[in-house]
Amino acid sequence: MAAKIITIDGPAGSGKTTVSKALAQRLGWIYVDTGALYRGVAFEVKRTGTDYNDDIELETLLSTLSLELVTVEGALKLLSSGCDITDRIRTPEISMLASTVSAKPRVRAALLEMQRLIATKSDAVFEGRDMGTVVFPKADHKFFLSADLVTRAMRRHGEGSDQPLCEVEKDIAKRDKNDSERKQAPLKAADDAVIIDSTDLTIEEVVGRILHEIGQ
Ligand code: DC
Repeated sequence: MAAKIITIDGPAGSGKTTVSKALAQRLGWIYVDTGALYRGVAFEVKRTGTDYNDDIELETLLSTLSLELVTVEGALKLLSSGCDITDRIRTPEISMLASTVSAKPRVRAALLEMQRLIATKSDAVFEGRDMGTVVFPKADHKFFLSADLVTRAMRRHGEGSDQPLCEVEKDIAKRDKNDSERKQAPLKAADDAVIIDSTDLTIEEVVGRILHEIGQ
């Protein structure tokens, strides 16, 4: 039987990660953070000094890239060629670079295959920007989380960011613009996604809404 898939898309700070993790735990499914994969590409672009605007350089990097998401003692880790880079991909610089390189068609094509392969192995909750629109258009259930910009910036800032709140807000607004205006797989809700505005909801309330929608 084919694995079951729930997709959760939405902008930065909309609560996708916390909700997706909690949902996966409740269902006993795996959780896949696809943003971490784009962050992994950005990390390797920076580490290797790759000029991502040069198609040949970018292709060379992608052809040798070996990213892997693994769960260790309940925590999701990102490995690049076997090295744990989980703690190095959450900086403001890597966030912005991930948004920039994710607009490159070559990068999206490389990660598309990887994401679909993961989905053949286990029932999973996938979170990202284009899960319901491009990667898994036939997902069993699709959700799109939103929240107003100030709330999203405050959530990110509260996660222990070293940046002042106003900078976090500016960075998120810039990424929103990049991610939703790009040509390839822009951030948007699938036509058949359930849209949940999490601005005034707790995580438990959002998870409850999703469980209700999927009949659990
Ligand atoms: O979810 P995140 O903030 O970790 O994602 C980092 C960047 O990666 C985001 O700004 C856009 C890109 N991304 C994407 O283009 N498609 C996805 N499915 C997930 C993330």
